[in-house]
Amino acid sequence: MKIAVAGTGYVGLVSGVAFAEVGHQVTCVDIDSDKVDYMKDGNSPIYEKDLEEMMRRNYSLGRLDYTIDYKNAYKDADVIFIGVGTPEQPDGSADLSYIATVARQIAETLEKDCLIVVKSTVPIGTNDKVEKFVSDYLVNDVKVEVASNPEFLAQGSAVHDTLHASRIIIGTESGWAEEILKEIYKPFNLPVVSVNRRSAEMIKYASNDFLALKISYMNEIANLCELVGADIQDVAEGMSYDSRIGSQFLNAGIGYGGSCFPKDTKALDYIGEQNGYELKTIKSTIAINNEQKLKLYNKASERLITFKNLKVAVLGLTFKPGTDDLREAASLTNLPLLLSQGADIYAFDPVGAENFKQHYPEGKNLNGNITYVSSVNEALEEANVCFIFTEWPEVKEINPKTFNKLMRTPLVFDGRNIFNLKEMEEAGIEYHSIGRMA
Ligand code: UGA
Repeated sequence: MKIAVAGTGYVGLVSGVAFAEVGHQVTCVDIDSDKVDYMKDGNSPIYEKDLEEMMRRNYSLGRLDYTIDYKNAYKDADVIFIGVGTPEQPDGSADLSYIATVARQIAETLEKDCLIVVKSTVPIGTNDKVEKFVSDYLVNDVKVEVASNPEFLAQGSAVHDTLHASRIIIGTESGWAEEILKEIYKPFNLPVVSVNRRSAEMIKYASNDFLALKISYMNEIANLCELVGADIQDVAEGMSYDSRIGSQFLNAGIGYGGSCFPKDTKALDYIGEQNGYELKTIKSTIAINNEQKLKLYNKASERLITFKNLKVAVLGLTFKPGTDDLREAASLTNLPLLLSQGADIYAFDPVGAENFKQHYPEGKNLNGNITYVSSVNEALEEANVCFIFTEWPEVKEINPKTFNKLMRTPLVFDGRNIFNLKEMEEAGIEYHSIGRMA
């Protein structure tokens, strides 16, 4: 099967590489020629475990290629996957302009029958529109159908999630399209759920928003735990034995970030509004998350009168470990507040610091200062206070005694509930976390 993939972001690139890995012939298309050259040289544009090695292997085996020449890639493809971004617009709706651009390029190029598969997360009904749009612009007399095949990979474990997905969702309107997709996914040997296009589109939003809801729910319970003297980690453990609840995504913390949950909750809320229906659970999920991102800052502000001229250690900048992605990360909400208060920040992140520098370059920023350091110890040295925003292994491995040994005042605000309360107390640290008694 000759496959083309439009877009080499997380979804497009990882899917394309995975298709090549199981033996398909894949060409990944991007408009950025520098990025294409970079990939041809054997480099992955995103930090993802095993990805670069798989890219190199499949490229040298001739199963995987990269190009900006979309005409050549699309004209005789059996299947074209669209994995371009659908960023959030100011009103919360999804921006579909990248999808439209690719759809038009495909329509004007195709020389044989082709199945177009939308992997990007799109509002319900979009695939119907894409099919109509492509038909309107078709140049040659070929058969084209659009199918929905949402992606469920998480950043940081993208390759594993793709090769070992919990399920493959196939949304089609004909047996022809369904059979082609089943054939493509056959080597993956994974459960396939075959539904109509609109249900497939909805499954993606409903799944992501349910997970976001679960996190916001746990964050609310955590906030209540603090008020009534319960411990959220014990509560979560007690809940997790009920298989109807499950043991995953019960971690309270500093709120969810990333490119998906924030965007997809707002998009579904918008879809509800467009259809005259108020999604109360999703509205609350969003509101709780916005407040949760400020939880540590508010706690610390109450404890310390000012951050002016304080040395503030910040451990973790990315929205979660295993990625260099900063989108909607709690650090991006908190650091500007600390800087505008005059804090002298020493930030550590094993891979996210370079990206953070694009927002806040090393040196003077707002009323404060930021220095990027390459180890946890450098950040903690002589610090007056420490904030933990991401549970990187380097942070989880810290021996509690280190805080006391290195910091000027061992005061730690942990947004990821990493440390044991008793051990922190025994090490003489004033430790504030989420949903647990200090
Ligand atoms: C998420 C979903 O998990 C994927 O299934 C989905 O395919 C993807 O969005 C997408 O739509 O593309 P991702 O955003 O990469 O993946 O990351 P997650 O691991 O889900 O984490 C999202 C945020 O939730 C992170 O900030 C994380 O720290 C937070 N989180 C997660 C919690 O606060 N508590 C938890 O228990 C779990």
